[in-house]
Amino acid sequence: NQTGTQTSTLLGFASVAAQTSDSFDQVVVPAGYRAEPFFSWGDPVLPNAPIWRGDASEDWQAQLLQAGDNHDGMHFFPFASDPDNHGLLVINHEYINPTLHPDGATEYPHADGSRQRTLQEVLKEQAAHGISIIELKRNDSGRWQRVLGDYNRRISSLTPMRLSGPLAGDPRMCTASDPGGRDVIGTLNNCAMGVTPWGTYLACEENFHNYFVNRDPNDHAIRPEHQRYGIGNGASSRYYAWESVDPRFDATPQPEQPHQGHVNEPNRFGWVVEIDPFDPQSTPRKLTAMGRLGRECSVCSLADDGSMAFYSGDDARGEYVWKFIPDGRHDPDNPRASRALLDKGTLYAARFDADGRGHWLALIHGQGPLTAANGFPDQQAVLLNARGAADLLGATPMDRPEWVAVSPLNRDVYVSLTNNHQRGSTFALDAANPRPNNQHGQILRWSEDGGLPTALSFDWELFLLAGDAPGALDADGYPVAEELIGTIRGDSFSSPDGLAFDADGRLWIQTDADESAPHTHNMGCNQLLCADPNSREVRRFLVGPWGAEITGITWSPDYRTLWINVQHPGISYPASDGHSRPRSTTVMITREDGGIIGA
Ligand code: FEO
Ligand code: CA
Ligand code: CA
Ligand code: CA
Repeated sequence: NQTGTQTSTLLGFASVAAQTSDSFDQVVVPAGYRAEPFFSWGDPVLPNAPIWRGDASEDWQAQLLQAGDNHDGMHFFPFASDPDNHGLLVINHEYINPTLHPDGATEYPHADGSRQRTLQEVLKEQAAHGISIIELKRNDSGRWQRVLGDYNRRISSLTPMRLSGPLAGDPRMCTASDPGGRDVIGTLNNCAMGVTPWGTYLACEENFHNYFVNRDPNDHAIRPEHQRYGIGNGASSRYYAWESVDPRFDATPQPEQPHQGHVNEPNRFGWVVEIDPFDPQSTPRKLTAMGRLGRECSVCSLADDGSMAFYSGDDARGEYVWKFIPDGRHDPDNPRASRALLDKGTLYAARFDADGRGHWLALIHGQGPLTAANGFPDQQAVLLNARGAADLLGATPMDRPEWVAVSPLNRDVYVSLTNNHQRGSTFALDAANPRPNNQHGQILRWSEDGGLPTALSFDWELFLLAGDAPGALDADGYPVAEELIGTIRGDSFSSPDGLAFDADGRLWIQTDADESAPHTHNMGCNQLLCADPNSREVRRFLVGPWGAEITGITWSPDYRTLWINVQHPGISYPASDGHSRPRSTTVMITREDGGIIGA
């Protein structure tokens, strides 16, 4: 289903065909390339980890030593001594699949609608969240091998972390189990990520709201840090019902307990979590200066003078695009001094105007509407309810902002807006979100004034609207609806999510579409595509198994090895035998001639 002429000299591979069969259970890459399963849920991470049994019968202690589930954002950190052949791969484990239960059950209904879980199951699910850090070495024959050494680490929803920045120790962070408001247990729903110029990893906490419940409807209604962030107020949390055995996840106020119990626990999630992969003893830090969002990613753009911005998507319908500008600058000669940079700075939300200009709106207490009278008594309240503050500032509600990528050639910034079927109904159409019932999403790009990450205005445009090619037919042979037609020059796809640039300036696009829906009839399984930012040609590089999202992308420093993640495959990948339990998997891609991926 290719359209247009292939003229790009940046894209040097032959397009892979879409796979539309619901029995497709493989990863396909272009001729001349090899894709191999490399690191799957349950694989050993720590040296004393048991080998994966294959039936998910491991207990939580074993899971804590093995790879977590639902691999998502990741990054390869090279060792300075041998960067092309030795590094640490850091991988997010976003959430868990119901297949984790040996009996396949996902619901535990009681007469009152609540669900009772067992402690052992909940501990295992908490252990399967978080991050894996694994050491890799390329051997003399050029093959990457895992090293089960001292750098290997599992971070999970059970790992002690420290709050830093303006909300550390704040009364709004105090709970019955942490009266000091500084020590959080665990991280949740680490979706995409970022990397700092000083060599740390930024794991981002996305859909944390699904793990908590506040059963008091009156309290819920007046507590914006619950209500504006989607914390449920039913009988039980939206997913997993951890609160049935772990009171930390029950955010219903308990007046008889210190700090009303755990009502503030959800305030301790939704942050960027900074991790030093080269120090296995280090305590991860939750960076409150950067604001609390349903945070997809945190991607750095560094200027020549060491000033910088960190861009984020907040992935929910009608949420915003963000950037954080640290007060200080990075000094490459003194990288350790940069470690406090993310504790002080200014948070901005984006407004995209119809004339192609855009503006960054500062979230500063006392400026404009951000006053006590409007529910923002101090800067801490602004950071805790950044969504509500941006509402008052008039930021532009977007079609689910996911990953951000910054061009290494000109610092242009790209964001994927994955889809939003409520556009044109709940959310008004606008220039940046122009399609009603937006099933396929779009990629938008902007250029900061002067090419500076710290600029407060920019020029923006739609890079492409995803969707079918003009003239495409649906499953019944009828022309697809006008609102499903995109502007892609090349291979069609739906629902862009992962975005990243390689060093040559190729833009890699990953998709997270529902391949069983009628609107993806022509695109099929999720995929990795590559775009030329100049010609806008898009070519399909990889197709994954049915049921899976394709996400997470990183390279070896020589760009001759690419790793991507197959998240929640639906059939039996990576065994691909039709009956084995499917496992989220990091896939390693190389060229048979050893060349640069995509060139
Ligand atoms: Fe976890 Fe917005 O994807
Ligand atoms: Ca995502
Ligand atoms: Ca997504
Ligand atoms: Ca996902």
